[in-house]
Amino acid sequence: MNFSFELISLLRRTSKLVALTGAGVSQESGLRTFRDAQTGLWSQYKPEELASPEAFRRDPKLVWDWYAWRREAVKGVRPNPGHYALAEIEKRVPESILITQNVDGLHRMAGNQRLIELHGNIQRVRCADCCTYAETWGDDTESVPQCSACGGLLRPDVVWFGESLPRHQLEAAVEAARTCEVFFSIGTSGVVQPAASLAFAAHNRGAVVVEINAEPTPLTPKANYAFHGKSGEILPELVKAVWE
Ligand code: APR
Repeated sequence: MNFSFELISLLRRTSKLVALTGAGVSQESGLRTFRDAQTGLWSQYKPEELASPEAFRRDPKLVWDWYAWRREAVKGVRPNPGHYALAEIEKRVPESILITQNVDGLHRMAGNQRLIELHGNIQRVRCADCCTYAETWGDDTESVPQCSACGGLLRPDVVWFGESLPRHQLEAAVEAARTCEVFFSIGTSGVVQPAASLAFAAHNRGAVVVEINAEPTPLTPKANYAFHGKSGEILPELVKAVWE
């Protein structure tokens, strides 16, 4: 992959870099993205039918089992070179911030600390009623485990369709997008709001927008640089070209 001298020198001198990631970054770790055709046990369900408060009210056990299955899938994978390259960028760019839509926890596992998990984290579980976090819970029970504080049903600590994002994380993400000099959009189809508007907010404030994605997205026409391919291949090459 060729990177222009212009982009390389910009990345060498910038301090205010923001990267937004989506499911595509974890694809090379073996995790399915959302809008790939689903295979296996859950192929007949659309994520929307499983990842909403209505779905949980309708059939809490079905939703609980889906997230238990996904938690097992995440436990079985490791960060890939794309995750590690983003952790390296955090070390190299003092005020860089990583915003992720992913709930798999792989960025933290790869070493990123200045991390905003916009859609929550699948490894965390809380009460659907009183929001108390549960340290332990049974995944192989006949029914959905209950909260030890109020008896309410436990649910994954992720943002479902139709739910608002955690206010503190969203405000921090919007602020970061509005004040950055360089905005990376990596492995996201850019169709889910409000995350999809962050790159446009950065662009409108004069930031240089770089897209890394397997295919073009609605952001591509606005991007100053667009690299279409695998993030686990492109990101390590970029880090090498800029800082090594
Ligand atoms: N490298 C780079 N990009 C990739 C790769 C890869 N190895 N594999 C797939 N992609 C791209 C796909 O082309 C697609 O454009 O990643 C994008 C993934 O898009 P989605 O599946 O829509 O995932 P995402 O954008 O993260 O979804 C946003 O939607 O379902 C909700 O809450 C969920 O956080 C999720 C949100």
